[in-house]
Amino acid sequence: MQVAPSILAADYANLEAAVSEVAQATDWLHVDVMDGHFVPNITIGPPVVKSLRRHSSMYFDCHLMISEPGRYLEAFRDAGASSATVHVEVGGTEEHIAQMRELSLDVGLACNPDTPFAAVEPYLDRIDMLLVMTVFPGFGGQSFIHDVLPKVAVARAAIDSGGFAVRLEVDGGVDTATIGPSAHAGARVFVAGSAVFNDEEPAEAVRRLRAIALGEVGALGG
Ligand code: DX5
Ligand code: ZN
Repeated sequence: MQVAPSILAADYANLEAAVSEVAQATDWLHVDVMDGHFVPNITIGPPVVKSLRRHSSMYFDCHLMISEPGRYLEAFRDAGASSATVHVEVGGTEEHIAQMRELSLDVGLACNPDTPFAAVEPYLDRIDMLLVMTVFPGFGGQSFIHDVLPKVAVARAAIDSGGFAVRLEVDGGVDTATIGPSAHAGARVFVAGSAVFNDEEPAEAVRRLRAIALGEVGALGG
């Protein structure tokens, strides 16, 4: 069970402060990488990961919303990424997974809200994390798409019944109202940007979210 604050919602001019603040409450940091091609927005790349790595030993969960992740995986690994998550929609998934393994990166695979579970299912036996997007990628601060929850539940069931060691992550619009239903559906890693960094006390916001998710899973006996 992890809450992964997304630095997309932090002050890019003061990332070190943002990261040390949330490090009091979680080990995970979600890094949103956008190329202006796979998504209509541009953010950051390996140099920023490298700079952050000098100040932090957190798990860097790097979400690559880019059309050609294969060209950059090694640079992210060298910069200090812990995992890389590539989108199934860009194709070449087989090769990307093999490349990440070769680089000793934890392997993540993401799917957009309108991509069926069947597109990612064949890879469950060789990935470490499945990211089910709960907004269309590209921007922070969007509203959670509740219609994705049945897919999260299907993914949870497939992971459990297959005995796969795959973390199930949701990303987009996660806040105190939507983290409970996400946990109920089976997610165990929760990316939260606005809900953390728009709070006056980001570390407290992380603890609050985690408590809700833990309460939900505890109630399920899971
Ligand atoms: C969306 C990104 C998300 C986003 C989450 O493209 O992948 O990680 O930053 O931000 P919030 O929590 O504000 O929806
Ligand atoms: Zn993300």
